[in-house]
Amino acid sequence: MPDLIIHSAAQLITIQGEGPKYGAAQGDLGIFEDGAVAVNGQDILAVGITNEIRALADGETQFLDATGCVVLPGFVDAHTHAVFAGDRANEFEMRLRGASYLELMKAGGGIMSTVRATRAASVEQIIAQTRARLDRMLVYGTTTAEIKTGYGLDTATELKLLEAISEVAATHPIDLVPTFIGAHAIPEEYQGHGDAFTDLVVNEMLPAVSEWQKSSMLHMRLFCDVFCDEGAFNVEQSRRILTRAQEQGLALKIHADEFANLGGARLAAELRAVSADHLMVTRREEMKQMAEAGVIAVLLPGTTFGLGKYDFANGRAFIEEGVAVALGTDLNPGTSWCESMPMMLAIATRYEKLTIAEAIVAATLNAAYASGVGERVGSLQPGKQADILIANVPDYRYLAYQYGTNPIRAVVKRGKVIRQ
Ligand code: NIG
Ligand code: FE
Repeated sequence: MPDLIIHSAAQLITIQGEGPKYGAAQGDLGIFEDGAVAVNGQDILAVGITNEIRALADGETQFLDATGCVVLPGFVDAHTHAVFAGDRANEFEMRLRGASYLELMKAGGGIMSTVRATRAASVEQIIAQTRARLDRMLVYGTTTAEIKTGYGLDTATELKLLEAISEVAATHPIDLVPTFIGAHAIPEEYQGHGDAFTDLVVNEMLPAVSEWQKSSMLHMRLFCDVFCDEGAFNVEQSRRILTRAQEQGLALKIHADEFANLGGARLAAELRAVSADHLMVTRREEMKQMAEAGVIAVLLPGTTFGLGKYDFANGRAFIEEGVAVALGTDLNPGTSWCESMPMMLAIATRYEKLTIAEAIVAATLNAAYASGVGERVGSLQPGKQADILIANVPDYRYLAYQYGTNPIRAVVKRGKVIRQ
């Protein structure tokens, strides 16, 4: 019956359970030593110890030997801006010489410079550049990724980015979860007119996105996100956009507390957003509100690192307050061009004070729930999609302990061995 059995793993990390994990459960890896997983078609058939799982084999079953390795669920990157054209290496160099991210943004650089490059690029160019990024993400074990628009900032280009996402989603092994973030920055043609741009997002972009969705190949729920921060959208503008999106049936996310605390985390709790993301300067009382409302905290340690800053999100405090914590790379050309989830484990454990086990749950099951796909991926349990990694490390701690090299030896996506 099983098409494939991966066996003899030093540790099989299953992370089984219902719903996102929070509090003490956030550290539950569900480990089987000498573990094995049986796959049938695109799905997981069984997990357990090698002898028991091997007994399920028949003449057709293929075997993959994971002796000396850790087997775990594919990583889910809960927050990326992977669809864009060009780069901002020049701004990186300017930041190293002392310019701040917000200064560059106010001077017309930052997100706006990527918007100019993205508007000028053809959809084919954008697709080719995005695909190359996803190829590298897959090598580092990402099997599902959330992916945001937000480098269009006009209706036509935002739709062009959704088009690019749906084309890549249909042809790349990584499963993509699309997010519309038309309110990613106030474009230069609306400088000083944030309310008018908010009107455009609410009255023109969101309806156009809904129309587009009806005719698109992407048959999944879209998310809507807003960059609620200094120099971007205030709480009132963010509330208007997210409320309208919710009325249209979109699920909600919010970029909150990345630079300044405007109250974005509180707004996420008020609107029962699926996640609030970044959260570098969030207060304890806001964490409590998020916990009560079931909002997942998506922490993005690559961003703090990428900006060369030190005010990492306090992951420990979120866990103490009972918030489910997820991780993402924030892959984008400005603050964090990183395609590696293992790198996020390395930084989150050292600077956001997650334990290694908590960080692994954050990068798999909780990231899947933050992306609206927790019922399907993020853990190794019967009936879920067979997205499985074989890591060339003797135990799970090495996934965060070693860094800068790739621990992933093999990737199984929907039951198919696609990298070995
Ligand atoms: O998540 N904060 C807003 N968006 C990105 C930065 C995007 C960019 O600089 O291009 C972020 O850090
Ligand atoms: Fe972001």
